[in-house]
Amino acid sequence: MTQSVPTSSNSVSPASSKFLTTAELRKSFIDFFVSKQHTHVPSSSLVPYNDPTLLFTNAGMNQFKDCFLGIDKRDYSRAVTSQKCVRAGGKHNDLDNVGYTARHHTFFEMLGNFSFGDYFKKSAIAYAWEFLTSAQWLALDANRLYVTIYETDDEAFDIWHKDIGLPAERIIRIGDNKGAPYASDNFWAMGDTGPCGPCTEVFFDHGAHVEGGLPGTPEEDGDRYIEVWNCVFMQFNRQPDGTMEPLPAPSVDTGMGLERISAILQGVHSNYEIDLFVNLINSAADLLGIKMKTKLP
Ligand code: ALA
Repeated sequence: MTQSVPTSSNSVSPASSKFLTTAELRKSFIDFFVSKQHTHVPSSSLVPYNDPTLLFTNAGMNQFKDCFLGIDKRDYSRAVTSQKCVRAGGKHNDLDNVGYTARHHTFFEMLGNFSFGDYFKKSAIAYAWEFLTSAQWLALDANRLYVTIYETDDEAFDIWHKDIGLPAERIIRIGDNKGAPYASDNFWAMGDTGPCGPCTEVFFDHGAHVEGGLPGTPEEDGDRYIEVWNCVFMQFNRQPDGTMEPLPAPSVDTGMGLERISAILQGVHSNYEIDLFVNLINSAADLLGIKMKTKLP
């Protein structure tokens, strides 16, 4: 009988049978959603156009804010983007985490699919699962994936559990854990006002050799379980006085960190070890005349 041999020193099963470069991943995400009738829209500027509530673009949905609000009508109701983002201030600020975790940097690319009053929770979850796990796309090991949902979102629970088949113990409910109503890791808002809604997030387990606990545990900020994809069910327009006005139509806004999913598909733990960063680091070293060659994954 052949003995199974651990593929790495820590015996973690491979994340996927595939290896994809960052460029291949970006293309694969766009191709997947174009095959699901989404229009490929280019990244918008890092400085948002005509939005006094934001200094820098902090999410893929920024350029579509008025589509969610029903003010801007486009000739498509489904879109896919790879959006350049900066999170170095304001509501979504990653600056204090940079240098301390394997997964934060101030500038990054967010892969996102969007529905403006078209599909909602069921398709958003089904698309995310298909892209991540099907053999045709990323072929991730489903046993290494966990999801969170907003505490009261039984509909999302049922979709994950009954339609997708995810065991109940891998679906974690997160309530208002940030000290105010709707202030939750599972209720996403672009700012203090504007489109917002409950969300479901997909986490990848980098393995027991990495410190960190599941979402909702005291160790959740560690680097073991890393959030890769956030699917927001856009339902409200938050007003300056905090009231939640329903949007004209339920919509979908998702975001997956290109560098985080690249780390997984390249079999490395830190975002800084992916091809994109290794090439930048080596070029910087060359320019500075430093003899240092970091190996590509
Ligand atoms: N807009 C959501 C986020 O940035 C997808 O997490």
